[in-house]
Amino acid sequence: MMKQIIKISALLLALLLTASCNAKSATTNKKSEKQSEKKPALTEKLTEKDLTEPAEQGTDDITDTALTPDSEPAEETAETQQAVTEPVTEQEQTEPKETEPKETEPKETEPKETEPDSPVINENPCEPDIPEVTEPTYINGILIANKTYALPSTYAPGIDPEANSALNAMIAAAAQEGISLYAVSSYRSYDYQAGLYERYCNQSGKAEADRYSARPGHSEHQTGLAFDLNSLEQDFGFTAEGIWLANHCHEYGFIIRYPHDKEHITGYMYEPWHVRYLGIEIASSVYESGLCLEEYLGITSVYAD
Ligand code: DAL
Ligand code: ZN
Repeated sequence: MMKQIIKISALLLALLLTASCNAKSATTNKKSEKQSEKKPALTEKLTEKDLTEPAEQGTDDITDTALTPDSEPAEETAETQQAVTEPVTEQEQTEPKETEPKETEPKETEPKETEPDSPVINENPCEPDIPEVTEPTYINGILIANKTYALPSTYAPGIDPEANSALNAMIAAAAQEGISLYAVSSYRSYDYQAGLYERYCNQSGKAEADRYSARPGHSEHQTGLAFDLNSLEQDFGFTAEGIWLANHCHEYGFIIRYPHDKEHITGYMYEPWHVRYLGIEIASSVYESGLCLEEYLGITSVYAD
C-alpha cells in the first residue's frame, strides 16, 4: 500500500514537472515568433524611411543651395545629391525619375557648349586643308603625284613637251590602224584641280569623290605628264580604242595609271582613259610587270587624314 502511495506521488510529481517545462517552452516559442514577426516589420519601416527621406532631403538640398547665399559650394551639393539619389535609384523606380532629369540635364548641355568651338564642324570637307609641300617628290627618278605624295601648289610646269610629242606619235600610230584617239584633258593647275575636286565632292560627297578625283596638289594632271583620252566612262576599256590603248600605250612611253582591280593600291577606281608618261623604257617595264606604279615602286597612295 505504501509502495502504491509512493508510486502515485512520484507520478504526480513527474506530471507537475512536465507541465511546468511545457509552459516555459511555450513562452520561449512565443517570444521567438514575436521576434521573427518583428524583423520584417522593422525592415519595412527602414526601407520606407530610406525611400522617402533621402528623396525629400535631396530636393530640399537643391532648393537650399539655390536660395541660400551662405550655402556650401556647388561641388559639395552635387556630391550630396549623388550619395542620396544612388540608393534610391536602386530600390525605388518612381521617385528617382524626378531626380534623373536633374542629373542628366547638365550632361546634355555639355556637348552643345563645345560645338561652336569645334573647328571640324565649320570646315568645308570639299575644301580640305592641304599640307603645304615645298618640293615635288621623285622616286627612282620618277615624279610622283598620288594620295601620299603631293605637289607644291606653285608647281606649274604646263604640258611636258616630251610627253606631248609621245602623245602625238601614239595618236598618229593608232590612226594608222583605224583607231581614233584624242585628248580630252591634259595639264591642270593646282587651282583648277581645287575647283574640280570641290565640284565633284559637292556632287558625290567626299568619300566617293576621293575615289575618282584627286585633291589639289595630288593630281597627276598637275605634273603635265598625264592625259585623259576619248571618254571618261569605264566602258571605254571595252571599246576598240580602249583595248588598243591598253595594249600599245607603253610602246610610246605611257602606262594606264589606274588599272582595273588596283583601287586599293592606287587609291583611285579604274580609269582606262588616264595615261601617264614615263618614257618607253620604264613604261614597258611597268607594263611587263603587270603591276601598277605604286606596286612597281613599292610606295603607298593614301591621304594623311
Ligand atoms: N582622276 C584623277 C585621279 C585625277 O583627278 O587626277
Ligand atoms: Zn586623268
